[in-house]
Amino acid sequence: MPIVTDDDALGAGFVRVLLAVVGAPVLLLVAALACSTAAVMAPPSVPVEAPPPAAPEPAPVPPPASVLDGIFTEAQAERGRAAYDAHCAECHGEGLGGGEMAPGLTGVAFRFRWRGLKVADIFESIESTMPPEEPETLGDQTYIDIVAFLLSANRYPAGDRELATDPVLLQGVAVERVPP
Ligand code: HEC
Repeated sequence: MPIVTDDDALGAGFVRVLLAVVGAPVLLLVAALACSTAAVMAPPSVPVEAPPPAAPEPAPVPPPASVLDGIFTEAQAERGRAAYDAHCAECHGEGLGGGEMAPGLTGVAFRFRWRGLKVADIFESIESTMPPEEPETLGDQTYIDIVAFLLSANRYPAGDRELATDPVLLQGVAVERVPP
């Protein structure tokens, strides 16, 4: 028969009380540790994205004023290159350097010819005189693409809008010098 003394009962009771008293702070400590760990582990807080502002009135895009404004696209210049290769390169050269048959179309030759003029002048001049045997046969779009290619070959920057055949717009675009 187990002998349970009053002392034993007292001892067990004391441990229980001790656990109850010490247990709470220990639990709190453990919880606090867990929290701080969680705080360290949590991903850096992402700033809440501001709601999109009410759509502003789309500012009217000013028409380009100069060939430095990125007035044609890369793709358009590439189309122009293909057309140039097919219709112009035999006389003006693959690299636009000119040849026995015709003047070069880049560098000094380009600058000297179009200095102080407008892109409209390049477009109209090419369309109305080239190719010499059959001018005005390629269509406005092909001629303007070729103008884009010529500008690109003369190191003018491409942009994100295609150059259109609009004569008013072209008349407003000055042929500036390429910055060195
Ligand atoms: C059969 C040869 C030949 C072909 C093909 C030809 N050209 Fe020319 N091009 C010339 C000659 C020659 C000149 C210089 C005489 C002149 O201005 O008429 C010239 C001049 C030019 C000029 C300077 C024009 C000016 O007003 O000073 C440009 C720009 C030009 N060509 C672009 C082109 C383009 C773009 C094409 C293709 C669509 C083309 N040419 C096709 C022979 C050619």
